[in-house]
Amino acid sequence: MSEEKLYLYPLWIRIWHWANALMFLVLIITGVSLQYSGPKFALIRFDYAVRYHNIAGVVLSISFVLFVLFNSFTVNGKYYKFKRKGFYKRLMKQFQYYTFGVFKHDSSPFPVSKERKFNPMQKLSYILVMYLMMPVIIITGFALLFPEVNLNSFFGISGIHLTDLLHVTIGFVLSIFMIIHIYFCTFGKTATSNFNSMFTGWH
Ligand code: HEM
Repeated sequence: MSEEKLYLYPLWIRIWHWANALMFLVLIITGVSLQYSGPKFALIRFDYAVRYHNIAGVVLSISFVLFVLFNSFTVNGKYYKFKRKGFYKRLMKQFQYYTFGVFKHDSSPFPVSKERKFNPMQKLSYILVMYLMMPVIIITGFALLFPEVNLNSFFGISGIHLTDLLHVTIGFVLSIFMIIHIYFCTFGKTATSNFNSMFTGWH
């Protein structure tokens, strides 16, 4: 593996990433509290949880729009481009490395370079999270903030319930993503090197 130092995380990505991670934590904690609050018990006082969930959701949405804009107009966007040909094969190779190779100290099948920042599993998960799930959770979040935009009924089921179900389900999947994401980030040169990279910009 190359020992060359690569500047892979420009300042805007680092600011976006840590703001996004912080907002995510606030959203998960307040979201779980809202989900499980009852008249007798609330993890966080209900009105506070609503207020901080809404504020964090709006900040996250603004930072998401900035992420999409910056990714469209800077070189970072090229790491999110997806070549379908042979992708499944590359994905399986990476999967094998994560499940077996890494424990046998094999070298990574897709080492990081200026041309390839993400391995196929990272690429797929980042594209799904950033370009599919984030838009869905943001749009459903705004639909819950302005409930009058929801359909009254969809095939006989309350529109707002369906929106809520989608919002909570994607929230759950994204929370699981975050745990797995943090775990895989420990698979760097050392357990902390990827985290340092996201602070310094250098891989
Ligand atoms: C406390 C929570 C988090 C930690 C500690 C963390 C850590 C990291 C680290 C160390 C990296 C650099 C390694 C890599 O490129 O894979 C990274 C990149 C990334 N993370 Fe996270 N992350 C967190 C939360 C999130 C969340 C909630 C999302 C999205 C919803 C996210 C999306 C991303 C993306 C898209 C990248 C690649 C950015 C780029 O270079 O273009 N992360 N994260």
